[in-house]
Amino acid sequence: NQAHQGDLEIDPIDPSPLKAFLKELHSQYKLLGEGAVAKYIPELAKVNPDLFSICIVTVDGQVYKVGDYEQFFTIQSISKVFAYGLALEDHGLDYVLTRVGVEPTGDAFNAIVLDEQSKRPYNPMVNAGAIATTSLIKGSGPTERLNRMLDMFRRYIGRDVFVDISVFTSERSTGHRNRAMAHLMLNFGMIDRNIEESLDLYFQQCAVMVNCQDLAVMAATLANRGINPITKEQAVDKRYIKDILSVMYTCGMYNFAGEWAYKIGIPAKSGICGGIIAVVPNKMGIGVFSPLLDVRGNSVRGVKVCEELSQRLGLHLF
Ligand code: DON
Repeated sequence: NQAHQGDLEIDPIDPSPLKAFLKELHSQYKLLGEGAVAKYIPELAKVNPDLFSICIVTVDGQVYKVGDYEQFFTIQSISKVFAYGLALEDHGLDYVLTRVGVEPTGDAFNAIVLDEQSKRPYNPMVNAGAIATTSLIKGSGPTERLNRMLDMFRRYIGRDVFVDISVFTSERSTGHRNRAMAHLMLNFGMIDRNIEESLDLYFQQCAVMVNCQDLAVMAATLANRGINPITKEQAVDKRYIKDILSVMYTCGMYNFAGEWAYKIGIPAKSGICGGIIAVVPNKMGIGVFSPLLDVRGNSVRGVKVCEELSQRLGLHLF
């Protein structure tokens, strides 16, 4: 009864039309070989570009999946969403807002730019803002801070999580651009902890290993007011869900965020690994994984699949 309603429904009694649609999307877009894998982190350049998976998890715990959904990869920028939630829990919204803004940049994810007036990084979804966010994670030292971060991911995913040490060390030894941003923010008093410790934690959170099904469960947890729909564990305080989803909606796809909001119309976040999560509040979480990226760092197949899912399932929020 809404103008944008799609012609396909998620029907747990008869899931076969949705399953068939996911299969069809997978075989159609598998043929799309456009894009390139990320090369600036040497370990990431080794990924198989043909990997491709799609997973949907509903808020009542139904799972629909196709392709290489068990294949592990590092979460990269998708971690920024969840680290932001932890920073909000640690300090509350008012304080976090003094350190990281909520304004889209229109720039690339790795732009070395701070807000002219406030000297804050623009938002927690770009690298500068994510480093500032991670610097806010509480803990008495690097191990406790890492353990709190890993435990947070465990609640969203529903199992213990691990850091890919090769990807972590690869980024730590080449991530000079991120280091430069951290120094710039230190100069303006925007981060006040030991910056090497915070950068390590940021590189570690980016190197957390997930698969496509994990992404969909994490997205579904955000769709379900912070409760993991499979384990029923509260992963994040529900009062922060609206803040997390708002910033995903306006900033999650970097300098494609406006077009994404216009066309696809749901909060989402991409990562240089080739993953995308998309959240349909009170309905479902979507995870897509395909490492071939466009020039903005978004998965080519991932964007296409989300566009089709949004149309056919009528997911656009407006
Ligand atoms: O800091 C970086 O550059 C990476 N660890 C994450 C960047 C990323 O995933 C951007 N996504 N498109």
